[in-house]
Amino acid sequence: MAKPQNYLVGIDIGSSKIGVLIGLGGEGGDIEVVGKGEAPNRGTRKGNIVNVEVTVDALKQASEEAEVMAGVEISRAYVGVAGADIRSINCRGMVSVKRKDREITREDIQRVLDAAQSAALPSDREILHAIPQEFLVDEQGGISEPLGMLGSRLEVMLHLVTGNVTRSKTLLTCVNRAGIEVVEMVFEPLATAEAVLTDDERELGVLLVDIGSGTTEYSLFADGEVQHSGVLPVAAGHFTNDLAMVLRTPFAEAERLKVKEGCCLAHMVSDDEGISVPTVAGGSTRVVPRRELCDILQPRAEELFTLLQEDLARHGFEEAPRGGLVLTGGGAKMDGLLEMAEQIFNCSVRYGLPRGLGGLVDVINSPSWCTASGLLRWGLTAEQNQRTRKRRRGAFSMRGMMGSLRGMFEDLL
Ligand SMILES: Nc1ncnc2c1ncn2[C@@H]1O[C@H](COP(=O)(O)OP(=O)(O)OP(=O)(O)O)[C@@H](O)[C@H]1O
Ligand SMILES: [Mg+2]
Repeated sequence: MAKPQNYLVGIDIGSSKIGVLIGLGGEGGDIEVVGKGEAPNRGTRKGNIVNVEVTVDALKQASEEAEVMAGVEISRAYVGVAGADIRSINCRGMVSVKRKDREITREDIQRVLDAAQSAALPSDREILHAIPQEFLVDEQGGISEPLGMLGSRLEVMLHLVTGNVTRSKTLLTCVNRAGIEVVEMVFEPLATAEAVLTDDERELGVLLVDIGSGTTEYSLFADGEVQHSGVLPVAAGHFTNDLAMVLRTPFAEAERLKVKEGCCLAHMVSDDEGISVPTVAGGSTRVVPRRELCDILQPRAEELFTLLQEDLARHGFEEAPRGGLVLTGGGAKMDGLLEMAEQIFNCSVRYGLPRGLGGLVDVINSPSWCTASGLLRWGLTAEQNQRTRKRRRGAFSMRGMMGSLRGMFEDLL
């Protein structure tokens, strides 16, 4: 098979499935999806790998499927990282401008970025992303590129995402053992945002919520940049567990019932709808009003959105974003969830699907494929920026810095 030098690969190691996409990136920013592979994953729980062998096997299966479809061999990939241990904080750095004529140089920018990250990290944590939200020159904010500006004080606001070192290493080991080099690990809601959000939404303010199987990840954007992001330990898998426990039915049946009949708003279901529910012993089947399903699912959905709202409030984001909410991830498909989010957040809510891709778009046109699609887009942006920086030494944009800040540091030195 041909080596995929001009190809981009995105790998989403989810708690329910591993999704691999191969895309062909164009100079104009377009991506054609040419390969897709998927395998169920039982080796990852709540975003963390709990069984290396099982995860590697699923990874191999999914990547081989994508390779056959694309007719290329995967050698390197952008890999999504999630998990309840991921933390994000906003921090500020400040330095005085060195040159006598007060022109801001790359070295000043480097120093202010370093200063913002100088707070000691515990030894078990590492920085996954350090994304500049804005630079301030002599207290004037909203600056995306301070290079060449005049001032005596340079400040930066950074969005810092940190992860657990050993968990990241385990993820790296799994991907390497499947014969794939990791180009970059990308915090999933940031990658997903690349695939589903519009530039207008990012400017206006938007909250992206990815309801997966084991975790719900979110990222809040405003003024074009990420303002806050995080992971909640409640997601679609909890709805299945609740149904299995309360209805005393096998997990596979509970999952089937949730996907087929699940609705989390009781008033959307009529009184006379009944559904048959098999019992755990595999013997009899009983008929349960569909509304009873809603009664089980509704509190869990409310808990999910309330946790999200509380976390945002704790970080100073009490008002709903002007651009509303975007729901994605397989869990977003549950009936009534969108309406419930509208009621709780009191703003507009839409579903997020992968956008702006060509090729096999019909086979990935699902909320479950947003993260893998976003990883392709992230990869293309990172690689284009690397090439641009090589051509125009030092010039950069805020979007270009996302994810590849380490690369930019090397470039700036
Ligand atoms: N119609 C549906 N209604 C409710 N839930 C659904 C529906 N379709 C899929 N799901 C749920 O979506 C989840 C899978 O979504 P997704 O593929 O986004 O998860 P994942 O990426 O594997 O998990 P994570 O992001 O937590 O690691 C499963 O729990 C599944 O039950
Ligand atoms: Mg996911």
